[in-house]
Amino acid sequence: MTVMFGGDYNPEQWPESVWDEDMRLMTEAGVSLVSVGIFSWASVEPRPGEYDFGWFDRVLDKLAANGIGASLATMTASPPPWLARLHPETLPQRADGVRLWPGGRQQYCPSSPVYRDHAARLVESLASRYHSHPALRIWHIGNEYGCHVRSCWCDVSAADFRRWLRERYGDLDALNAAWSTTFWSQRYGDWEEILPPRTAPTFANPAQKLDFARFSDDAILACYTMERDIVRRHTPAVPVTTNFIGLVHKPIDSYRWAREQDVVSLDSYPDPYDPRAHVDAAFAYDLARSARGGQPWLLMEQAPSAVNWRPRNAPKPPGVMRLWSWQAVAQGADAVLFFQWRQSAGGAEKFHSAMVPHAGPSARGFADVRALGRELALVPSLGRVSADVAVVHDWDSWRALESDAHPAELDLLETHRAHYAPLFEAHVTVDVVPVDADFSRYKLVVVPNLYLMTSSTAARLTEYVASGGHLVVSFFSGIVDECDRVHLGGYPAPLREVLGLTVDEFWPLSGAVPLSQGAGSVWAEWVELSGASAVATFDGGDLAGRPAITRHEFGAGVAWYLATRPDPATMRELFDRIRRDAGVRPVVEGLPDPVQAVARGSHLFLLNHGTTPTVVDLPSPGVDLLDPAAVGSKSVTLAPRGVAVVKLEEVNE
Ligand code: GLA
Repeated sequence: MTVMFGGDYNPEQWPESVWDEDMRLMTEAGVSLVSVGIFSWASVEPRPGEYDFGWFDRVLDKLAANGIGASLATMTASPPPWLARLHPETLPQRADGVRLWPGGRQQYCPSSPVYRDHAARLVESLASRYHSHPALRIWHIGNEYGCHVRSCWCDVSAADFRRWLRERYGDLDALNAAWSTTFWSQRYGDWEEILPPRTAPTFANPAQKLDFARFSDDAILACYTMERDIVRRHTPAVPVTTNFIGLVHKPIDSYRWAREQDVVSLDSYPDPYDPRAHVDAAFAYDLARSARGGQPWLLMEQAPSAVNWRPRNAPKPPGVMRLWSWQAVAQGADAVLFFQWRQSAGGAEKFHSAMVPHAGPSARGFADVRALGRELALVPSLGRVSADVAVVHDWDSWRALESDAHPAELDLLETHRAHYAPLFEAHVTVDVVPVDADFSRYKLVVVPNLYLMTSSTAARLTEYVASGGHLVVSFFSGIVDECDRVHLGGYPAPLREVLGLTVDEFWPLSGAVPLSQGAGSVWAEWVELSGASAVATFDGGDLAGRPAITRHEFGAGVAWYLATRPDPATMRELFDRIRRDAGVRPVVEGLPDPVQAVARGSHLFLLNHGTTPTVVDLPSPGVDLLDPAAVGSKSVTLAPRGVAVVKLEEVNE
């Protein structure tokens, strides 16, 4: 199978006379898959219970007649206005009590049984009508769950939250203990007293907030699984997905959701004005691939050029759309799709770019789309990406970390960036894995700021090092348990043995502080060594002379600890040393800096994120599938923002 190509197709915006031109242009561009029906609920059910599928039948028939597959949406992402009129209680409510009204999209309370019933009826009708339609390739459930409404604080949600808590804790004593409610007179004597963490006079209970984030994620997930189960009943063999909002989104735990899907799909909108955008995108793509253990994923949406929802929306300069599309494929995507096929004439996203721009098919944008479609077809079925390094990310910990009243406000994605960048820049392939991943598959495991860590995760990390693994843990990790209660006995209690140290006190920094090597910022700690040795010390400020970076040989492995965030150059030197010790090699040795290299089986992807031409020496002779004239070459010249997909003659496994 070659890489699938296409985009969101919303033909209900146009008279039917335009649809034939759409089919012609899609065929010309090599479109093989379109997402249809995402926002069609109001068009197929204009009045409650009154369905009009005729126009949608014609759309699907045209797609099938042109050999184009449908990623068939369940249409429930945005209820029609009549639902709010008939059932205002389906509207979501914010923490401060404000209702969110129709007029935008996604205006439903995820816990609402009324919303779920109406959604279920619609999905049942769709699945029974289209289960054997020749265009159907994949089910696209909802759309970007949790994008606008991440939680709902209404009374319906409050009751559902109490049900969820009863299931989790069984009795009130267990809940009171888990939430540490003896503090600030919060002890609950009756389940009915428990509310979602609505706007309060001061900091809400952090364990209550954490559970509410878990509950909200579960409530939204239940909307997804309800629809998934309906379509699966009708079409057990058709794969099911839902598109994650990119790049990494706190309300939705992609690892848990990925287990409920047949294939992961991701929407990705890097900002062309951000010179590091491709690195953040790389992190998200590594996560999307790792979420189902290395299985290929689908790039379900990206912008052909500018979006229209940032304060200032940069178009993609020539070459960037192509480069970033190939980047996704290199990192494991088997589909490249866009939002949306034809640029809207009206509505909230009319200035968002599209595959067919306002100017029509003669515009530069469509020429680029057509060229990409043809080029993607040159690449055969691709193998999997494999990585020796894992970076650990955890949604529970992320939510707990970015709660209130901590020693300092910490931004986890910033910290991830600081740990991921030196590996990306060293051309090392990385998986981004959950805490329950099999660490033994990796030569190096990096754990950035994993504030919430269960004792069992800590035990698994300890065992990993004892049996020869190389581990990097950074500051403020292993601090609390799953209820946000501190692991007592000296920080980070469950990791002290493997790290060979104790943290006596946290010392957040207001600026940069010199280290014996480089500088640290954001955070520092008073570290007492008990087996580890200091590789770098603080060289100024209150902690002068105390350990900042430590190394501990433990069992057959090595555990590193970073008590601060070293500057990027120091991180790069440090990570070079750590990964060499661990036996981790770059995909290609000696690559110039802006070139990203990823291998999928015997195909080597080379992506020049820079704006000057660059020559890359190949590890073995090969042929660039995008420039087949250069058969058997030993090197490839990448144009500015250029791409090569090299089929290597010999593969170093
Ligand atoms: C999201 C949505 C799309 C569209 C795009 C572009 O990814 O899923 O419906 O709104 O953003 O803004």
